Amino acid sequence: MPRKVDFLVIGSGIAGLTFATKAKTHGEVLILTKKNKADSNTNYAQGGIASVFGDDDSFARHIADTEKAGEGLSHPDAVKIMVTSGPPLVQELYELGCRFSTDEGSAFELGKEGGHTRRRIVHAKDFTGYEIERVLLESAKKSGIVISENEIALDLIVKDNECLGIYYLDAITKKIDTIYADATVLATGGAGQVYLHTTNPPIATGDGIAMAYRAGADIANMEFVQFHPTSVYNLQIEGRSFLISEAVRGEGGILKTRDGAPFMDKYSPSGNLAPRDIVARACVSEMLRTKSKYVLLDISHREADFIKNRFPTIYETCLKWGIDITRESIPVVPAAHYTCGGIRVNTWAESSVPRLFALGECACTGVHGANRLASNSLLEALVFAARAAERLKTTKTLTASKILKHDMPGKTGPNFTLQVKELMDQHVNVIRTQKGLEHAREVIQGLEDQFEDGIHLINAESRNIVNVARLIIESALRRKESRGLHYITEYAEKDSTLGKDTIINTNIVSN
Ligand code: FAD
Ligand code: SIN
Repeated sequence: MPRKVDFLVIGSGIAGLTFATKAKTHGEVLILTKKNKADSNTNYAQGGIASVFGDDDSFARHIADTEKAGEGLSHPDAVKIMVTSGPPLVQELYELGCRFSTDEGSAFELGKEGGHTRRRIVHAKDFTGYEIERVLLESAKKSGIVISENEIALDLIVKDNECLGIYYLDAITKKIDTIYADATVLATGGAGQVYLHTTNPPIATGDGIAMAYRAGADIANMEFVQFHPTSVYNLQIEGRSFLISEAVRGEGGILKTRDGAPFMDKYSPSGNLAPRDIVARACVSEMLRTKSKYVLLDISHREADFIKNRFPTIYETCLKWGIDITRESIPVVPAAHYTCGGIRVNTWAESSVPRLFALGECACTGVHGANRLASNSLLEALVFAARAAERLKTTKTLTASKILKHDMPGKTGPNFTLQVKELMDQHVNVIRTQKGLEHAREVIQGLEDQFEDGIHLINAESRNIVNVARLIIESALRRKESRGLHYITEYAEKDSTLGKDTIINTNIVSN
């Protein structure tokens, strides 16, 4: 008989671990994760978690800042839930042992990032994600939750429009097997690896989004790929571009052209702390104008001791690569950073397929709209993971007759990963054109046609990357306006009649 659990979680980042530790009290939880358990976007988060703790702050302000960044597409109900439920969950992480930075009075030391009108970023210096991952893994271990490493979810088992579990590959034995569950929870993270230049680690191949799409779930707002303005030029560490946190600009860092001229005031009254889409486009425009492959980020005017203490990871990593940020500017370029779209879910993390839940970066709760406000993603993952666990206190058990042994010979597909990454960097980047997107669609269509239907054992990630690229391009072609993170030169203005989510599923693949 195939294995069956109450709650099957795919992914061991903040979303999967938060859900698991909370759902453990009302059912058996199993986490599968495709590499080492700490391999996640979460582990690399620098800036922090946005949450209302400041005396001069309020929920209304955080809501307003989030919705302003979202450019008319944020869902007000989801934003309100995220903002108002956040502080106790952040406090809980601290009480679990997360070493968040505090000031003398032992209140959280609050950082500032683009688009926030108040200091509200709770952080552990510049290694917030590492701390969160560490503490949640410890907590999961203490609760006796099994985290099974090197298990790659390949596809969802869907029957009669209901998700029954997954097919997965044991990366060590190379065998495909099935696990059934009353609820399957995708917490597989983002899809930055669809691009050549990305801050995301190699696990971020959009697997959950691609699996859910193939299973017929609604996928929303994939055109809104967030490019972080400041990754170090020409510095790839273990498959990811090294990030310089927005918190560096929050502490006075200034963007300059290669010849040392500050430029952000030309682009926004908020200058260096304008929302990320504006800053990324400004960087690209200045790189084009000055015919340079990068712009500069300068924090060297701040005290060396302050920089070393506040940004130890960034300081030490840059130094190792020959850049002393206390004395010189850092050459930076935008890189793909965050997937605002994903598996469409309601405010309880339920997807359009019964028994299938999605959390964290692979989900689209509607919070971010057309542009995510800095440091809102850890918060979103935390809040909606806790809500999903709450929702699953009452789940109907899968009837035994639905649990069948599926013998699925795995297929071998081609590896198009590099080709897709180059295509996406060239044609589906910060500034897009209709012609470029149409070309990209044609190429991707040709690649997609070369994968057979069925479960893919070899090059499963490459197939996911092709599927996700297709979703991004298709969504971008549908949005005939520029809004938030989606900028297309032929439709350079926002069109107020197009203020709706872009939704794609396997029944609707083009206009
Ligand atoms: P992840 O943490 O990415 O976890 C996904 C998990 O799923 C991993 O364990 C992975 O191995 C597993 N997985 C994926 N596919 C499969 C599969 N097929 N089978 C089995 N397992 C699978 N956000 C903020 O709010 N504040 C910040 O300061 C911040 N800084 C960031 C800095 C960097 C460099 C990066 C890359 C992102 C940053 N973000 C930040 C974004 C934030 O870190 C992520 O959005 C968030 O951590 C996502 O959490 P998650 O649990 O959804 O996914
Ligand atoms: C950063 O530290 O700049 C990343 C913050 C985020 O992605 O929210």
